[in-house]
Amino acid sequence: MTDLSRAALDIEDLRLMARRRLPKSLFDFIDHGSEDDVALRNNRAEIERIKLRTRVLNDVSSRDPAITLLGMPQKLPLVIGPTGPAGYVWYRGETALAKAAAKAGIPFTLASTSNTPMETILKEGGGRQWYQLYVWRDLEKSVQTVMRAREAGFETLVLTVDSTVAYNRKWDVQNDATFPTRFTARNVWDALQHPRWLIGTVGRYVRAEGGLPRYVNVAALDGVPLGQSRNHLVKNDTMTWDFLRRLRDIWPRKLIVKGILHPADAVKAADYGVDAVIVSNHGGIANDSAPAPIAVLPEIVAAANKRITVIVDSGFRRGSDVLKGLALGADAVMIGRATLYGVAAAGEAGASRALDILDAEIRRTMGAMGCSTIASLSRDFVMTPSGASN
Ligand SMILES: Cc1cc2nc3c(=O)[nH]c(=O)nc-3n(C[C@H](O)[C@H](O)[C@H](O)COP(=O)(O)O)c2cc1C
Repeated sequence: MTDLSRAALDIEDLRLMARRRLPKSLFDFIDHGSEDDVALRNNRAEIERIKLRTRVLNDVSSRDPAITLLGMPQKLPLVIGPTGPAGYVWYRGETALAKAAAKAGIPFTLASTSNTPMETILKEGGGRQWYQLYVWRDLEKSVQTVMRAREAGFETLVLTVDSTVAYNRKWDVQNDATFPTRFTARNVWDALQHPRWLIGTVGRYVRAEGGLPRYVNVAALDGVPLGQSRNHLVKNDTMTWDFLRRLRDIWPRKLIVKGILHPADAVKAADYGVDAVIVSNHGGIANDSAPAPIAVLPEIVAAANKRITVIVDSGFRRGSDVLKGLALGADAVMIGRATLYGVAAAGEAGASRALDILDAEIRRTMGAMGCSTIASLSRDFVMTPSGASN
């Protein structure tokens, strides 16, 4: 066993390693949800209350967690989701995540607010890459970003629709966590107490790129002086389904809408020609009263009626969690913090460790359930606490 495989036996171990390495302000930024963390905790509670039934005396000696997603075979039923600060927690953390995803044979989603040019990440990260779009106040600049991602060759475009207003996160205010970084006595002191991050991440950006990481994949910031960039990073709260129609017209490859929580919206997205929806509450960050995606998943799967692919995220930390999502009808599970903690703890090796942990847990739980393939999972395997099949 390598040191990492002994030091991190589950995703929680990677989380604790990330907490030790990162400044408090950055760790709180990735670890918390919004307001009272109710949605964040509820995501976990709803997943934990679901039980997986066991079928016995099946030969489970060869268990295969492979799936086909959007027409492409992949080795695991996972997708790495977009997480803006990946490049803040580790030097070129986005490329590290893309490489780990490629090695594991799953897609990686690059966030709009990433810190290395998208073309570089696509080339150096390799594998299958999706591009996630936030739509800023300047709609036309957002369209320019889409054209750039199209030109670069991203396989899939993911439009995030659950973040049109700023999140209510008191930790970021209390910790002076601002992007781009504004120096205060508090956050400088915080950084100085975490020299591994300060030297290994900030120091490397300064040495290699001459300054702190910036947002380089947002056309809305082209030509904007650094000090003013926050004013231009205001999300567009006027966006409607018309914009989705426009995207469908200009994006010739797979198009996904992320942040669906209502069956009627999934149906509408299908009507607008999207290929997939991601049932998500943004990992509990967007709306603290949002339901857990796993709880609304069955009705969304039913409403989608196989017209489109359904992916679920928010709160998935164990292989058994992933199997619950799939048994309830999701075609794949997207993960955010699991691999973000990994990359924050140990870069590409940490992200790979997170995926190896989930892979091993998925295979072990499949064996324990008496199930050899993902295709053979069904609602029959799922129980709610009342004892009835879900
Ligand atoms: C620190 C952080 C940053 C995120 N940044 C983005 C983002 O830039 N774009 C986006 O669509 N979703 C973003 N998300 C949401 C994730 O893509 C995903 O929906 C969520 O993390 C899933 O929940 P989980 O973290 O419990 O797995 C972010 C999540 C976290 C934790």
